[in-house]
Parts: sequence; C-alpha cells; structure tokens
Amino acid sequence: MTTKSAGFDAGSVVQEQRVHGSVYTSPEIFRREMDTIFRTGWVYIAHDSEVSEPGDYLTRNIGTEPVVVSHGKDGEIRVLLNRCTHRANKLCNAESGNATSFRCPYHGWTFSNTGSLTAVPMREGYGDAFRAVRAELGMSQAPRVDSYGGFIFASLSPDGPTLLEHLGDATRAIDRLLDLSPTGTIDLRANWMKHLHHANWKMVVENNVDGYHALFTHASVYDAIRPAKVSHIPTKTDVVVRDIGLGHSEIDYSAEYRKLDEEFIWYGRIPREKLPIYVAALEKRHGARKAHDALVVGPPHTLIWPNLFLAEMNVMYVEPIEVDKTVAYTTAALIPGQRDLNQRTLRRAEGAMGPAGFLIADDGEIGMRNQAGLAAKEPEWLVLARGLETDVTDETGIVNSDKSAETPQRGFYRRWAEVVGASTAGTPAALTEAVR
Ligand code: FES
Ligand code: FE
Repeated sequence: MTTKSAGFDAGSVVQEQRVHGSVYTSPEIFRREMDTIFRTGWVYIAHDSEVSEPGDYLTRNIGTEPVVVSHGKDGEIRVLLNRCTHRANKLCNAESGNATSFRCPYHGWTFSNTGSLTAVPMREGYGDAFRAVRAELGMSQAPRVDSYGGFIFASLSPDGPTLLEHLGDATRAIDRLLDLSPTGTIDLRANWMKHLHHANWKMVVENNVDGYHALFTHASVYDAIRPAKVSHIPTKTDVVVRDIGLGHSEIDYSAEYRKLDEEFIWYGRIPREKLPIYVAALEKRHGARKAHDALVVGPPHTLIWPNLFLAEMNVMYVEPIEVDKTVAYTTAALIPGQRDLNQRTLRRAEGAMGPAGFLIADDGEIGMRNQAGLAAKEPEWLVLARGLETDVTDETGIVNSDKSAETPQRGFYRRWAEVVGASTAGTPAALTEAVR
C-alpha cells in the first residue's frame, strides 16, 4: 500500500548538526514524507470533545488525504477516507456537523456514518454483477484509530507500533495538560483558527520548540508585556529544552516554575482568588498539594510527532498541503465547566494565536521568509548545532539547560531520518523498528 523508499539516503540530507535545504523544498521528499510519516505512522486527527455525540463528524486530512472523522450510530469513532467509491468525488464537504449519512454531491450515492453504502440512485441501471460487489463499496477507513487523554490519532497502516508505543514519554505532556482540569478532560470546541503558512510543514512545526527565536521574532511581545516572564539568560533560569525521543520534544518551564513556587506564572500571574471556583474544583480532584503543584507547573509546551503541538493552553495541529504550503490550526484548550477560566483562556488565545495576535502572525511571516530564503540554493545546509556540546542525556531524554539550544530540532530530524530514510521506509516494520 505504500511506496518503498529504498535508495533514499536520509544521511545525505539530515546530519547530526545540519539539515539540507532540499528537506524543505523538494517535492520528491515531500511525497516521500506523505508516504512514510503520514500514510504509515500515527497522526493526530481530532479530539473526542469534537465528536462526542453519535452523528458528529469532522473533515480533516491525514497528510494530503482527506478524511471524515465520524462518530457512527453504532458508537464507534471511525476515520473514513473522504472519497465516494463511485467516481471518487469528495463526499463530505462541510467542516463539521451531525448527520446520519453522507450523500455524494455528484450522483447521489449515500453512505451511512459508519461508512457503508446505503443507497444508489437509479439502481436498475446496474446489472446483476453489481449486486455482488456492492457490499464492498463502503467508504475506505483508517484501519487503526486510538486515543490518549481524548486526543484521537489515526494510522492508515493496519499494523506497526501501537499508539502508546508511538507516543512514548510524550504521554506525560498530555497528562500534564489534563492535570489542570478538575474533570481530567479538556474541550476543544472553541473553533479552530486557521493560518495558511507559505512554508514547509516542518518549518511550522519545529518553530514551536525553537527557544532561540522569541526575543527576535516576537520582539513586539516583549515590548508590550515587559518584563518578560522569565529570564532568557541560560545561567539564570532552570528552563530546559528536551528531546523526549521518537521525534517528540519540548520547552519545559516546570523546574523554573517550581523553583519560583508561584501559581499561574504561565497564566499572567493571575491571583488564585480571581478563579475561586476553578481552584476549589481542582483541589477537590487532586488535594491541595497536587493542585498547587499543577498550578505552579502549568501546561506543557510540547511537540508530539509529527503534527500535534500542545501550546500551553492552546492546541495546534498542522496539515501539510504542498511542499511550501501548510495550514496550522489552533484552538484554546477549554476546561469543562470553568466559564471564568475559559473566558480568559479564549482572550489569551486570541491575543497569541488570533489573526491580529502577537505570536502566530510573527511565526507565519518568519516561516514564509525562511521558505523565500531557501530559494537561494547556497549555502546548501541549515545549521542545527546550537547546544550540541552541552546536551545531556538523562531519564527524561536529551536535555539542554540552555532554552535556546536546538536540541528539540535535532530530535525531530533524528526521527525524521529514521522514518523517511529507513531502507524499508513506508512500511510498518520500519516504524516498529524505530520505536523499539
Ligand atoms: Fe459519488 Fe458518483 S462520484 S455518486
Ligand atoms: Fe514563535
């Protein structure tokens, strides 16, 4: 089902401290990525709060392939390929909704929300032989769909690593986010902001764990909210960057925040008295001590390979469109039942991620300029050596106590080379090998 990548030498484009420009510009490498990373591996696809009721559906993409995430009438959540089995028309064209069936706009074939073909208009035009194949003309579906903490992932490959094997220690980041919720769940139904980035998808993704750029790319933020929330001088802070392994990585403020032992630093230092209902509910769930720790440590800033970013109280996922075109979707992570907190989270999300926001507009512009710069073919390589000599391996991964070290990106590309460059790349066996 997939294209073997035999003959592709990942080492020719990804090395320990540098990445070749073609990784961001080659249509051939982009196709290979779709086949290997996206068509074979696990990809974040939706959150269960978005499809909580039978009939709820969303249209998304796995790589460049359109899918429908559908909560079937039988209670099962499926990821159906969004293609009519007659002449391949894109079947479902709404972003989301609730429906018992999907009717093709071309000739009206109709499929139930479990994917089976239920109606063929003017049936008599088909001969008897059609009766025999009709049962096989249901929508194709991702053979594996699984979730962790409400985050739903799909794999278009019938075998390979389990979702838990794929996530590895990145599950801790999801746990950290859910620790902030009195119900242990979040709600991602605030609607998604969409940003079209004229940049390669990896540029959009790796920027999220680049601790080097903020003072420069986001200078306007620091002008507006002086003083910065923590020092950026590595010897003065306990903020670390971490290659968690398996392509997952993060910027981790938890040690710094624990040292300061102050709640809500990550949330504009709001006093707990301003959110009494939330704090009381969290203490009810965790007890006072653990609730305090959760409020001190705050949410994760973690990239989950290949397309999900837990951006503190926002969630982002990316869909690659073309080699130099990517859509980033962001939404606020809402806490069920916490209206006051959620209002604040929404305003903060708009400020950071909205169209006139402080952060993502800067990152989109810088990504576009990065892609523009890559049109100059020399020098051939981009440098990822920052902090290489000071990386330390411990039980949590490869860690660097300089937040501006490029440790996360090195982890990302190590995984990339394993997946895209394996001699059996594009096969489940290669992925299984890579996670073990
Ligand atoms: Fe869907 Fe013909 S393409 S009914
Ligand atoms: Fe940024």
